Amino acid sequence: MFRRLSASVALLAAALTATPASAADAPLRDLAAARGVYLGTAVTASRLTGGYAQIAGAEFGSVTPGNEMKWSSVEPTRGTYDWSGADRVVAFAEANGQEVRGHTLVWHSQLPSWLTGGSFTADELRRIMTDHIAVEAGRYKGRIDHWDVVNEPLNDDGTLRQSLWAKALGESYIADAFRAARAADPAAKLYLNDYSTDGIGAKSDGMYALVERLLAQGVPIDGVGFQAHLVLGQVPVTLEPNLRRFADLGVDVAITELDIRMQLPATEAKLDRQKADYASVLRACLAVTRCAGVTVWGFTDADSWIPDFFPGEGAATPYDENLARKPAYDGIAEALTPVGNPPPTGTACAVTYTVQSQWNTGFTAQVTVRNTGTTALDGWRTEWGYGSGQRVTQAWNATVTQTAARVTAASLSYNASVPPGGSVSFGLNGTWSGTNPPPTGLSCATGS
Ligand code: XIL
Repeated sequence: MFRRLSASVALLAAALTATPASAADAPLRDLAAARGVYLGTAVTASRLTGGYAQIAGAEFGSVTPGNEMKWSSVEPTRGTYDWSGADRVVAFAEANGQEVRGHTLVWHSQLPSWLTGGSFTADELRRIMTDHIAVEAGRYKGRIDHWDVVNEPLNDDGTLRQSLWAKALGESYIADAFRAARAADPAAKLYLNDYSTDGIGAKSDGMYALVERLLAQGVPIDGVGFQAHLVLGQVPVTLEPNLRRFADLGVDVAITELDIRMQLPATEAKLDRQKADYASVLRACLAVTRCAGVTVWGFTDADSWIPDFFPGEGAATPYDENLARKPAYDGIAEALTPVGNPPPTGTACAVTYTVQSQWNTGFTAQVTVRNTGTTALDGWRTEWGYGSGQRVTQAWNATVTQTAARVTAASLSYNASVPPGGSVSFGLNGTWSGTNPPPTGLSCATGS
């Protein structure tokens, strides 16, 4: 999980020296910036007053209009534009020094009826689409940091969703949309965004293959957005390796619409679980250098789409309906707060995990951390996920803790120091059943 120490050094220093008594005292946007990521929220333009506006501006470094930039909002009648909501969100962001995620230029949903009910030739539809992109992305040229150019292009099995666009134009609409967006606003980072692509599976495999094809064709795609509309207790254990494999293609990644819903009523136990789930999503992003940031899909339960779309479920955001912080808020803050001292520059490590022996229900594994940098390590940590229900029962030569599927291990005083080229091993016993596959997202970090 330690990442690039990007952001500004001044900000990092501020976050460390003005060390708050608890993480909850520093605004989330500052904690995020100090870790080199943004923390954003979807907002509703008409609510941007009073306490809602105060929190949205103070705690978040990026905003996404929840609906105001969608086609049915901006062009309800052909040729008649209404930019009032979108303008309001962009102005709010500028007044508060925030980034803007534009959402979204091309989607199958929330289209005006003149478009869904019209009959257009393929050429006409392509033209309508690229004109729309030119007009909307052009209007906000230079003021949008990230555009969701195409939203939700895939079916659950990873094949191309037969949207209005795909039916007429096939997959080519995606490349055309990105090219039009690049032409309209060359400075904006252009994203492809979808849901249920958060963990590794059929749909994210389809997305991965699609991104590979687009890159091979020279399509100007800068990033892939993972909506992360998640269910309590079901953060995919493969979230981090999944983000990483996309990043390894040479694109940025971002969590774009995070919420974690639960069956109502919320209980203390569920809210605690939600805190851990929010923290693990933030940690997955922090662990991947090219993860640009995390956006929550509404910061308050008063402004969440979940109760309307998933009857009986809700309480999915970090603030309750009265704008009070929930445990999830602390989960975000804690995940964003650096643990211990930041590592000096020039430190680096690599980690391997080997099952040394295995019997019917148990196993012994050895984990080795190697100093691959040029200066001595003063402390190290490693993390991984177990994908098959494995549980650590005992460990030696490290402090090992497991929360759900996620395991973290930290050096002890006698093995914290590792010279360049040197390595340290620790061991553990665990239980397994069914299969005992290697862990996912194995990573290490330096610093105490
Ligand atoms: C949702 C909005 O939050 C709701 O207000 C609206 O009624 C429906 O759309 N994926 C997306 C978002 O990309 O645009 C959706 O937003 C939620 C799912």
